[in-house]
Amino acid sequence: MILPIVVYGSPVLRAENKEIDATYPEARKLIDDMYATMYAAEGVGLAAPQVGRNIRLFVVDATPWADDEPELAGFRRAFINPEIYERSGEEGFYNEGCLSLPGLHEDVSRPVTIRMRYLDENFEPHDEEFTGRAARVIQHEYDHLEGIVFTDHLSPLRKTLLKSKLTGFTKGKYKVSYRTK
Ligand code: NI
Repeated sequence: MILPIVVYGSPVLRAENKEIDATYPEARKLIDDMYATMYAAEGVGLAAPQVGRNIRLFVVDATPWADDEPELAGFRRAFINPEIYERSGEEGFYNEGCLSLPGLHEDVSRPVTIRMRYLDENFEPHDEEFTGRAARVIQHEYDHLEGIVFTDHLSPLRKTLLKSKLTGFTKGKYKVSYRTK
């Protein structure tokens, strides 16, 4: 089932997100719905708060990038209760967008490599290093679980320049090809 995507300005994107365990009702169905929603909107990542659930879960499918980074072929995964516990000192810029901020793209600086503990969709634990675009999309989605959106990382000047655009989101002034709320 395709779910409506919450747009910038909603308090849901700023609320606290709770950890879940295997007793969470219909976790598998929610994960499947999140993949369907992400594909319908042509995204590469989607976090639970973006579909109105304040829990620590996100999904990623970076296979559209596999032409450029062959190791991303088949990089399709759900991350539950993730914890980034190490970030490399080296940072890089990458042009990011977000399904909750339709049409907006900005260069964001982030650590190139991270280490993270998480549970997969079967609630099996993993401890893994990610780098390149995998680390990029993971950090973007992880931010959503912390109530952060990518524009929060921009310089004060850039934020000022984008102010009317961001205010527009809160007033429903945006064009989008997928269902939002
Ligand atoms: Ni996003």
